[in-house]
Amino acid sequence: MECVAAGLLLAGAVTEPTATAAKKKNKGTVKKEAFGKTTDGKAVEAYTLVNKNGLKARIITYGAMLTEMHVPDKNGKFGDIVLGHDKLEDYLDGHSYFGVTTGRVANRIAGGKFTLDGSEYTLATNNDPNHLHGGTEGIDKKVWSARVSRSKAGPAVAFSYTSPNGEEGYPGNLKMKVTYTLTNNDELRIDYVATTDKATPVNLTNHAYWNLAGKGTILDHILQINADHYTPVDATGIPTGEILKVDDVMSFIKPTAIGVRIDKLAGEPGGYDHNYCLNKKEFGSLGLAARVEESTSGRVLEIFTTEPGIQFYTGNFLDGTEVGKGGWKYEFRNALCLETQHFPDSINHPQFPNTVLRPKQKYTQTTIHKFITK
Ligand code: GLA
Repeated sequence: MECVAAGLLLAGAVTEPTATAAKKKNKGTVKKEAFGKTTDGKAVEAYTLVNKNGLKARIITYGAMLTEMHVPDKNGKFGDIVLGHDKLEDYLDGHSYFGVTTGRVANRIAGGKFTLDGSEYTLATNNDPNHLHGGTEGIDKKVWSARVSRSKAGPAVAFSYTSPNGEEGYPGNLKMKVTYTLTNNDELRIDYVATTDKATPVNLTNHAYWNLAGKGTILDHILQINADHYTPVDATGIPTGEILKVDDVMSFIKPTAIGVRIDKLAGEPGGYDHNYCLNKKEFGSLGLAARVEESTSGRVLEIFTTEPGIQFYTGNFLDGTEVGKGGWKYEFRNALCLETQHFPDSINHPQFPNTVLRPKQKYTQTTIHKFITK
């Protein structure tokens, strides 16, 4: 099923007075299409947002996942700059968290255990010996409901999912809403809201894999991260609890090519997979977190967030075995992730910014991806 119209588009035909349609057209469009069925028969839909400048984002209801992001290069030629798959089956077969909404708690929780208000909780451990990205069947593997949302900023769709009490071991019924807006200022804005009926940790992010050239290596992408500190990890990826000043290898305060010092990071497979503590004047305020530039395409990505941290990950586990959109074999160093978040394993480190959400409180996080050319 497919339906297209100017302005906001829902299933079924839409007839509108010409003047209104034209006015709305300038604000972009939303198109809804079927995107297959899960193995247990749930229908998955794809929403394609196009802004008034022709930028295009596609998000599917499985995992509230960003599957395509088309932006122009310096010559005005559009290209898709996120990794992903063409078909739902390829996502269902298991993939590397391409573009997903990650949670209930992004990144790792040590040993899958935490204590909250005197009760000990045991979570699914899917990254031996730890809990990673919400567990065996995190919110990235759920079918979310979707609703086209009215926004003056540009075409928008809101995705909702309620994770029941006990899912993957977490306490509380957690109601989540993630709204993607493709603004007419060429930004992909993601707003997250969550509420709970029992105290529970929450840390939501998006796991998009970026390649601003739309092909090849990311080692020559120039990166800047607005962070003087990071959280070092042990051999299993769990923060030691220290907050260290970035050294020569870790610092991206000055714009630096990603490949320049990457080989100095020991480990198997090695590379960046670290949480940076963003320099912020005010906790929860929207500030510049990172900037990425790619010279052949002239594309620039700027990321702004309300979050205190950002996980910089250089696709260390990509090894050419996963074949993505258009037959591209995703090789080592073919993409980078910049996941805006609270620090990993915060629930076990009281000195880190708080991730506990309580009844009557509202969790919010906003991240803006701004696309520019130079
Ligand atoms: C995060 C983690 C990585 C890895 C990727 C997904 O960035 O920190 O270790 O799990 O997600 O493969």
